Amino acid sequence: MSIESGLSTATKDFLVRSHGHFINGQWVASDSGETFAVHNPANGEVIAHCAAGGEAEIDRAVKAARAAFEGPWSRFTSAQRSRVLWKIADLIEQNFQQLCELEILDNGLPTPLAQYVCGMVVPEFFRYYAGWPTKIEGATIPASPQGKLPGQVFSYTLREPIGVVGAITPWNSPLPMVMLKIAPTLATGCTLVLKPAELTPLTAMRLAELCAEAGVPDGVINIVNGFGDTAGAALAAHPSVDKIAFTGSTEVGRKIIHAAAGNLKKVTLELGGKSPVVIFDDAKLEEAIPGAARACFFLQGQNCMAGTRLFVHEYVHDQVVEGIAAAARAMKIGPGLDPSSEFGPLISAEQRNRVASYVEAGLIEGAELACGGKALSSPGYFYEPTILTQTQPDMTPVCNEIFGPVLCVQRFGDDDLDDVVKAANSTIYGLSGSVWTRDLGTAMQMVRRIDSGQVSVNMHAAIDPAMPFGGNKQSGWGREFGKEGLEPYLKTKGISITW
Ligand code: NAI
Ligand code: MG
Repeated sequence: MSIESGLSTATKDFLVRSHGHFINGQWVASDSGETFAVHNPANGEVIAHCAAGGEAEIDRAVKAARAAFEGPWSRFTSAQRSRVLWKIADLIEQNFQQLCELEILDNGLPTPLAQYVCGMVVPEFFRYYAGWPTKIEGATIPASPQGKLPGQVFSYTLREPIGVVGAITPWNSPLPMVMLKIAPTLATGCTLVLKPAELTPLTAMRLAELCAEAGVPDGVINIVNGFGDTAGAALAAHPSVDKIAFTGSTEVGRKIIHAAAGNLKKVTLELGGKSPVVIFDDAKLEEAIPGAARACFFLQGQNCMAGTRLFVHEYVHDQVVEGIAAAARAMKIGPGLDPSSEFGPLISAEQRNRVASYVEAGLIEGAELACGGKALSSPGYFYEPTILTQTQPDMTPVCNEIFGPVLCVQRFGDDDLDDVVKAANSTIYGLSGSVWTRDLGTAMQMVRRIDSGQVSVNMHAAIDPAMPFGGNKQSGWGREFGKEGLEPYLKTKGISITW
């Protein structure tokens, strides 16, 4: 009996439906009638078919979003928006099993991680943003425009929703990526047209339905399915979209900026990373070793914050490499639906080939293999957790974002703080990073000098709804999460009144 036969009825019923676009509260097909297949990366089988949208569907969705923005949604009080966000969190919990199963089937992540995402991360994020609508405030300003005296003029600022938001999300963590766009949209009173990743559209569609069930009016959250160079490009270029929120590759991020130039829409970008993990010789290795393994191999390394460049002090280099290699070899590789799996498949055959080619390039350039380095022969797109040692900053797998389970190790010596900072920062990216030490002085210096949007000490990827997250350098523009994550969805109006 296959693992899939144990799926809940809710999941089975969802999969066999015909999946269109969610526009103005209705499921609709594409004008062209075109569809694409959605695959389970654990076995390569087709699990669903989805309508492929283009310019026409994007235009219809943007018009619906505009009408909702100017109409019913603009009359919601901030307290009503709070209640809707809280209700969405409750509904996510009520649909926990189905969301877990769809996310695993679509993306391949292991069950415990899916349970953490659907049971904790996503509902708690919506609850965090449920607190914000009633706290978005302007200021009164002691201004004297045109020489007005105090008491003759009243100046203040209004924080207004930016308008219609276009969002484009990637496949590596589908539901959280969609959550990151929907929650600030609703908290600020914007409306949304979302194009989910064509590789993983399922939970985005289900979440749109849960938003409607929670009381979000028609047209506020719209989903157009389809490919990047058609639906995605049409959304990024649409003249009636006020802002684009994009998460994905740095290469496509650049295209988004060009497409957005037409109407100068505002752009936020959450792009690639090549984050450093720095382990000093005084680190508590029984925590640093599993921590570094998780930092790189979490989500099979298909994770923008992954700690993929490891810098280890020479005194502990061999012990750390052997420790991480032992952890990697012990990971149970298998389909995410098998609850004992700890490490799932990559998203596609293409992604697996990409990962393999980076490993091969590294070996040709002189890196050594400490473990892994092979694709599994079983069906599905599995690739072993892999460690390359003796790497140099200019090697192909060290300077490129691989987006797979490949850890590149470099060593450093005593009194090399300046050198290790320089090496850690010698990348076009600047998203995350971690430092492992018991010395507070070393930690304080390192966190200030690592050039990235997030640095943690004795932990990696310290994500929390309240903590701003985003990239320096070519890792992006702007921040998501926390209060700062609301800013790109708001605009400020300065108002002066005299009488
Ligand atoms: P991608 O950047 O092509 O896809 C991300 C999203 O952008 C998808 O929804 C896609 O349909 C859309 N898109 C693609 N081309 C577009 C265009 N011209 N206009 C508008 N939207 C467009 O990422 P891909 O090809 O799936 O993965 C390739 C590499 O990108 C990965 O190996 C990884 O290095 C990086 N990546 C980084 C992510 C991150 O979170 N930082 C997420 C996904 C990929
Ligand atoms: Mg692409």
